[in-house]
Amino acid sequence: MSVTEHPRILVTQRIPNPAYPLLEAVGEVEANMQTGLIWSYDELLQRGPGHEYILSLLTDTIDARFLEACAQSAPRLKLVANMAVGYNNIDVAAATRLGIAVTNTPGVLTDTTADLAFALLLATARRLGEAERFLRAGKFTGWEPLLFCGAEVHHATLGLIGMGRIGLAMARRARGFEMRVLYYNRSRLAPAEEAAFQAEYVPLDELLQRSDFVSIHAPYTPETHHLIGEREFALMPADAILINTARGPIVDEKALVNALAAGKIAGAGLDVFEREPLVEPELLQMENVVLLPHIGSGSLKTRTLMATTAASNIVAHARGQRPPTLLNPDVWV
Ligand code: GLV
Repeated sequence: MSVTEHPRILVTQRIPNPAYPLLEAVGEVEANMQTGLIWSYDELLQRGPGHEYILSLLTDTIDARFLEACAQSAPRLKLVANMAVGYNNIDVAAATRLGIAVTNTPGVLTDTTADLAFALLLATARRLGEAERFLRAGKFTGWEPLLFCGAEVHHATLGLIGMGRIGLAMARRARGFEMRVLYYNRSRLAPAEEAAFQAEYVPLDELLQRSDFVSIHAPYTPETHHLIGEREFALMPADAILINTARGPIVDEKALVNALAAGKIAGAGLDVFEREPLVEPELLQMENVVLLPHIGSGSLKTRTLMATTAASNIVAHARGQRPPTLLNPDVWV
């Protein structure tokens, strides 16, 4: 691969500071430095073409139309470095067809995301959001035997949908709480791994029927779209709790609202939403749900590692080296 002299690099959102000097060392950086400003698709379409490299965020729709515009421009787009492990916002097939490399940031956010998923599980089970709102409203008048009694987490059954890095990190945390772990995944773990994680492989329906907590850790793909919907909620016990820190559209959010309203499940902890940043209005009114603004990987240390990982992919490519976390190796010939 040839070395690109002083390439043009676009950074679409404000990212942790240590990533900028890495990029500035190899090229000319144009960056959206305004905290909280997410460029619209049209703005992105206007700004993207004419850059060799784009450091994108999961809020950017990098579709075939956008990629084609960037591939037809001069200079031509060479690589999109997504600052996320998930890359459902990018049409990787179109990128590959156009010879554009795509990278993500796997590994660096595994434990931080599992920490948040477990925190959300605990918060939902023990009704922390509801209880804190009660106290802040000045309603705490003294200890009561039945005040905010929630569900027990220790020794309960946790069903993991998706058993990649983050699913396995959840299984590790669950062991500390002496939980029984069931999992459903595209591929089964090796027997030694199942034994090490004390995880039992079951079909999805059985997982839904047997779990006190169902936690989603699968990527969002056409196959996982609405994986959990009306039929699946009907299989879950009435005291079950759903946790989603993966991607919103894996759950049919309207079916979730109906299941919660009808008491088909007991609660939900959500860090992601089907039409992010929009949230089904009924969910905002429900006390038995804990709602977070997509902060799974949100520690400064991890977000910095994600930003520098994304930047390192651009730096490597600009120096003629294979990007370390390349998703479409077909473009690297
Ligand atoms: C966050 O959601 C990510 O995919 O990194």
